[in-house]
Amino acid sequence: MVARELKALGYPEHQVEDGRISFTADASAIARCNLWLRSADRVLVKVGEFAARDFGELFDRTKALPWAEWLPQDARFPVRGRSTKSQLHSVPHCQSITKKAIVEALKFRYPVETFSETGSLYPIDVSIHKDRVTLTLDTTGPGLHKRGYRTLSGPAPLKETLAAALVQLSFFNADRPFLDPFCGTGTIPIEAALIARNRAPGLLRTFASQDWVRIEPRVWHEAQTEAHDLMRPPLESPLIGTDLDEASIRQARVHAKQAGVSDDIHFQQQDVAQLSSSRSYGCCICNPPYGERMSEDGDVVPLYRTLSRRLEELPTWSTYVLTSVRDVESIFARRCDKKRKLYNGRIECTYYQFFGPRPRARIGLA
Ligand SMILES: C[S@@+](CC[C@H](N)C(=O)[O-])C[C@H]1O[C@@H](n2cnc3c(N)ncnc32)[C@H](O)[C@@H]1O
Repeated sequence: MVARELKALGYPEHQVEDGRISFTADASAIARCNLWLRSADRVLVKVGEFAARDFGELFDRTKALPWAEWLPQDARFPVRGRSTKSQLHSVPHCQSITKKAIVEALKFRYPVETFSETGSLYPIDVSIHKDRVTLTLDTTGPGLHKRGYRTLSGPAPLKETLAAALVQLSFFNADRPFLDPFCGTGTIPIEAALIARNRAPGLLRTFASQDWVRIEPRVWHEAQTEAHDLMRPPLESPLIGTDLDEASIRQARVHAKQAGVSDDIHFQQQDVAQLSSSRSYGCCICNPPYGERMSEDGDVVPLYRTLSRRLEELPTWSTYVLTSVRDVESIFARRCDKKRKLYNGRIECTYYQFFGPRPRARIGLA
C-alpha cells in the first residue's frame, strides 16, 4: 500500500523489503511524505548501513558517518535500538556505543568536549538485523498514525494508518456511497473522507524535522501550500458512520470536526440490524467486534449474521470486513473475492473483501 502511495506522490523507484521501503529523493520528499503518506508509520533518513559483528566495528563505522551534516551543535539526539538474529544482541549496549560514536564524530566538526543537547530533536534509530546495521534519523517524531484529530479514545479504536489502508485497498472513491455500520470513534469514515477530499493527513500536526537546520523552512512551506491547493471541495453526499454506542458516536463527531471533515460524514447512533441504504454501488467498510478485544460475552456470530442479512438487501454494494473472527465466509454463506492477512496491533486479522458489481458508467447527455 505504501509503495502505491509513494508512486502516486511521484517516487516510483523504490525498494520494497519486509516492513520498510527505501528510495532516494531530495529534502522536499521528507516534507511531502510526512504530510501525505496515509498508511506508513514514519519517514526515516538513512545515514548509513554496514555490517558489524562486534562493538569495535559498530563504533568505528558509526563514527565515520557524516553526522554533522545533519546534527547542529545543540541537537538533542536520543538513540533507540533494536536487534534481531545478530551477534550484537544487547540493545542497551548498542544504543550507548552508537551514541558515543556519534559524539566523537560531532567533536570533529564542533569545538566542544560535551554537547548540551538543548536544541531541536533528532531521534536516531540503530537497527541491527542479521549483523547488518542501519542507522537512521526519524524525521516524523510521534508516529504518522497520530494525525492530530483523535483526542478521545473508544474501547477498541483502529489505528488511523490501518484504517486508511483498508479504505485504499477497497474500491471506494469520492463518487461512491460509503458506510461503516460499526464506526466506533469514527476512524474509518474519517480516513475515507480525508481520502475523498484529497486532504493530506499530516496537515493537522507538526513533525520532528520541521525544526531541522538542514531542511529550509521554504521546503515545508511549499509542501504545505501544495497540500492546501490539492484539497478537493466538500463532498456532495456525506459518508455514513453508525454505531450502537451513543458515546462513541459523540466522540466520532468531535474527531471529524477536528479533522476538518464534519460536513463530509453523517454519524448516527444505530444498531446494525437497522442497516439500510437507498443508494447503489456503495462500499461498506467495517471493523466489527471480534469478541476478544472488547470482552463482550463472546459470541459475535449472531452479529455477523445480522450484518450479512442486512447486506443481502444491498446487492450492488461491495463489503469489506476486518476481523479476527475466522469463519466469516461460512457465517456470510458467501465466498469472498479476496482476503488479506493484516495485523490490528498484535491481533492477527483477515480483511475479507466481497465485491459487488461495477458501477454503471455515468452518461453525460448534452
Ligand atoms: C472494533 S469496534 C470499532 C472501532 C472503530 N473502527 C474505531 O476506530 O473506533 C466495534 C464497534 O462495534 C460496535 N457495535 C457492537 N455491537 C453493535 C451493533 N449491534 N450494532 C452496531 N454497532 C455495534 C461497538 O459499539 C464498537 O464501537
